[in-house]
Amino acid sequence: MIRFIPVEEVLAIRNEVLREGRLTLDECRFPTDKIEGAFHLGYYDNDQLACAASFHPQNYGEYKGNAYQLRGMATLEQYRGKGIGNQLVNFAIVYLRGQKANYVWCNARVKAIRFYQNIGFEVISDEFEVPNVGPHRVLYLKIQ
Ligand SMILES: CC(C)(COP(=O)(O)OP(=O)(O)OC[C@H]1O[C@@H](n2cnc3c(N)ncnc32)[C@H](O)[C@@H]1OP(=O)(O)O)[C@@H](O)C(=O)NCCC(=O)NCCS
Repeated sequence: MIRFIPVEEVLAIRNEVLREGRLTLDECRFPTDKIEGAFHLGYYDNDQLACAASFHPQNYGEYKGNAYQLRGMATLEQYRGKGIGNQLVNFAIVYLRGQKANYVWCNARVKAIRFYQNIGFEVISDEFEVPNVGPHRVLYLKIQ
């Protein structure tokens, strides 16, 4: 079941999936986690948070409109490849359409690009390196 959750519930999955458990939970916070309009989604399998992602209002470069950035996309290893991440992002897209968002974008790890393309995102940047994380590209999805 997908629901809106407080950021405190996403910190542990961010750490485990995206930072190899290297950080403290506080170090897994993003500066944008609590800004106006930010929200966090979780897919719960009973009491287990299986997948999470965070969104906040943010334009990309010169792209105009009402935009959101997706960050912290993470599915626990044992839950991957079941369509849960896809469902979570699609849930967000329906919500964002209601918020009159024009587009959503993210800095995607190169390994995850196909996941985003399956949802309909397009690559809009060259490859760039995020220190300590690896190669990334910017992915963009027009909402309306
Ligand atoms: C990227 C990530 C979030 C995807 O989450 P997920 O829940 O596994 O996503 P999905 O199951 O919706 O899609 C993953 C794959 O499963 C396939 N899939 C989807 N539904 C499926 C189903 N019902 N049965 C089998 N496979 C399925 C998809 O085709 C997709 O394949 P592809 O990405 O190789 O093209 C997850 O792999 C992850 O957390 N990775 C490590 C962290 C990371 O890279 N995060 C992204 C940072 S930008």
